[in-house]
Amino acid sequence: MEILTVDYKLKEVIELAKTVAASKATILIQGESGTGKELVANLIHQYSTRVNRPFIAINCAAIPENLLESELFGYERGAFTGAVSSKAGKFELANGGTLLLDEVSEMDIRLQAKLLRVIQEGEVDRIGGRKPNLVDVRIIATTNRNLSDCVRHGSFREDLFYRLNVVNLTLPPLRERIGDVNIISLNFMKIFSEKNNKIFNGCSSEAMAVLEAHDWPGNVRELENVIERAIITCKNGRVEFSDLFIESRKNKNEQNKSTYSNLDKNWEPGKTLNDIERNVIIEALKYHNGNRTHTAVALGISIRTLRNKISDYKKIGIYV
Ligand SMILES: Nc1ncnc2c1ncn2[C@@H]1O[C@H](COP(=O)(O)OP(=O)(O)OP(=O)(O)O)[C@@H](O)[C@H]1O
Ligand SMILES: [Mg+2]
Repeated sequence: MEILTVDYKLKEVIELAKTVAASKATILIQGESGTGKELVANLIHQYSTRVNRPFIAINCAAIPENLLESELFGYERGAFTGAVSSKAGKFELANGGTLLLDEVSEMDIRLQAKLLRVIQEGEVDRIGGRKPNLVDVRIIATTNRNLSDCVRHGSFREDLFYRLNVVNLTLPPLRERIGDVNIISLNFMKIFSEKNNKIFNGCSSEAMAVLEAHDWPGNVRELENVIERAIITCKNGRVEFSDLFIESRKNKNEQNKSTYSNLDKNWEPGKTLNDIERNVIIEALKYHNGNRTHTAVALGISIRTLRNKISDYKKIGIYV
């Protein structure tokens, strides 16, 4: 999957990722959930000399501590009850390639010490093993927490933090690169249309405005889910406003409406409906710092309608 972006900050991060890919340096990828950390880890592997060797990912948060230890480091036969045969860990399996440690902040402090040893010595001790095995593995770690905060709170080893953080790639959240919503959405629309044997007929401007106005707490993964559902429910292969099920949309609009505070009176003698509408639009624009997309979504009108109204106001000398 290609990393799509028009954002210069993310482009810089991708360039850096490609540049450091060739080295063996350990890389820490930070970013909120769903920002594309695994995608970037994959890219690094693809651009490295290890590309024909294994790329193995393990999620440190999803596996209980004991199991994580045996999964990572492997074990010898008889090392513990149930160890009926010996087993290589992920480090050995990834030998010559890349090991992705997802959500590394969730790793137990005791295992962190073992991980540090692998990074420093290039040696893995299987549980119950007599001698260490040499491994050559490029480690990429990801976290959606601030790791230096974890160090400060004592839940993450400082020495390990520095070992992992040789190169730091921080992925900006989607709400800080709202320009990406358009290209990523359209791409997902095409992908999911194909997957569902539908002919894609585009997306209405209202629907796109809603997508661009959302703040995407779940980032690209959330966007992907919203688009998949929209493609499944949409008619004639065209995505409309009503096909989008975005959780906080209603609340957000309600909040917005309740805070257009400068509207002292709705109506008084002499005021026309147009005057009132104009007042509401001006207040809404102020509230949204002049952002027309957000204003149009909050008012439930299309951007084109909003634009037309604004140009009508200009004709009577009101500039908003
Ligand atoms: N810039 C992008 N362009 C296209 N697709 C993207 C982009 N960023 C993320 N995606 C897609 O969004 C989904 C989530 O990305 P990914 O799994 O890499 O995120 P993550 O940061 O690892 O998430 P988590 O913290 O939940 O593990 C994937 O399907 C990925 O392909
Ligand atoms: Mg991930």
